[in-house]
Amino acid sequence: MKVISIANFKGGTGKTVTTVNMAAVLADLGRRVLVIDADPQHNTTDFFGADTDGATLSHVLNGQAEAYWPDILTPTGREGICILPADMDLLTLDLASMRQGGADAVGRMRDLIGVLREDDAFDYVLIDCPPSFTAASVAALSVSDGVIIPTRVDRFSQAGVGELVEQIRQLLMVEPREMEWKILITMADGTNLHRQGAELLRRSFPEGSVFEHAIRATTKVGEASFARKPVTEYAPRSTAAWDYRELVNEYLKEVEKNGQEV
Ligand SMILES: Nc1ncnc2c1ncn2[C@@H]1O[C@H](COP(=O)(O)OP(=O)(O)O)[C@@H](O)[C@H]1O
Ligand SMILES: [Mg+2]
Repeated sequence: MKVISIANFKGGTGKTVTTVNMAAVLADLGRRVLVIDADPQHNTTDFFGADTDGATLSHVLNGQAEAYWPDILTPTGREGICILPADMDLLTLDLASMRQGGADAVGRMRDLIGVLREDDAFDYVLIDCPPSFTAASVAALSVSDGVIIPTRVDRFSQAGVGELVEQIRQLLMVEPREMEWKILITMADGTNLHRQGAELLRRSFPEGSVFEHAIRATTKVGEASFARKPVTEYAPRSTAAWDYRELVNEYLKEVEKNGQEV
């Protein structure tokens, strides 16, 4: 089982769209996927129309939920994809967790992932992170094998990437372990300015830190969200659908090359 956080400290960079579409493509390829929504804005939860009357991530992190997975994870109605939803309580969790130094939330997240691993319940866990350093995002990064950092090619989004990479470095200094991070360019528009910006971005990080495949901008992505469908299903022949399939291929190739899958 591989745990991947989708994170960037800036909002609107395509984290949720990437989470949803990677989940859809992985499920289409027969992988069993759990999506964890770690953003109090709960866009991913809404996308899947998940019920938040049952357990949510805040229940898990504040110790109210049994960490026994079959009781708390909800099927999404999409084959192969389950979800642990988010709600606004993730905001109150931060206040409580700050008083305790955040350690409890991290410990409970580790418990949950540990149980899922033991039960071999999923092939991939994708965690849609909030655009800030919260108890939930710290917990997410603490259990992740990899981080995908979606970014637009503009100055502010790139600053968000730099800050996140720095936080990851610090986290790994405190607790050294294997954790790969990789940048994903989203909403690519094919202009010269974009091409130059993307080139600059690739050059400002070590080689191999940016996915070869970028996700192109298309209005189909917005339409698909309204229809509550992954763009790979809503408009399977659109550029973004094509790009998300290529991205997952690139990712799987890399994971398989390193012999890490499952
Ligand atoms: N490839 C794309 N083409 C066009 N619009 C996109 C694309 N990816 C994301 N968007 C739009 O950009 C906005 C932000 O995307 P979202 O995934 O919600 O970002 P985040 O989760 O990082 O805040 C949304 O309105 C979404 O529809
Ligand atoms: Mg989001």
